[in-house]
Amino acid sequence: MTSDPLAAAPRRKIAVCPGSYDPVTNGHLDIITRAARIFDEVVVGVVNQGVRKSQAVFSAEERREFLTAAVAHLDNVRIEIFSTLLVDFVHAQGAGAIVKGLRAISDFEYEFEMNQLNRRLADDIESFYIMASPEYSFLSSTGVKELATFGGDIGDLVPPGIGEALAERIAR
Ligand code: PNS
Repeated sequence: MTSDPLAAAPRRKIAVCPGSYDPVTNGHLDIITRAARIFDEVVVGVVNQGVRKSQAVFSAEERREFLTAAVAHLDNVRIEIFSTLLVDFVHAQGAGAIVKGLRAISDFEYEFEMNQLNRRLADDIESFYIMASPEYSFLSSTGVKELATFGGDIGDLVPPGIGEALAERIAR
């Protein structure tokens, strides 16, 4: 009996949206939401401890909890913490794609370098870049933390509850 390749179950397209998410912002949510419309499944990969950044304000577990609440309405998105090379995490999730957001030329330079490095390590993984929506093109976790440190209102920049959690953490 010859097998009909068209009859085979189509492979689910899984993408990883990696990041520090310290904390998740509405800009991250915009990218995750748009990726979830394109891929069958999106795994949000929370870096346990990034290599290029100072100590995170929130633990990886806290960051995961914030994200879990923020994406609760998206049934094809799940959150995982990882402490390995990104490409190893992508393979472990059975994913074939990395999705990242791009806000500005400065993001492009960093992402271009990461892209080349990741591609050297695993050329079976393709990276996709979603342009930030204009209303979030200025938004970063670093900026949000700086505003919060000096008492700025960040309520409309982050999902519910995070502004309060950040203010409380900074006050300690
Ligand atoms: O800007 P972020 O949120 O700190 O980005 C984190 C991440 C993992 C997306 C970025 O550091 C990256 O693309 N790293 C690829 C290289 C790698 O595997 N590093 C080990 C995990 S930090």
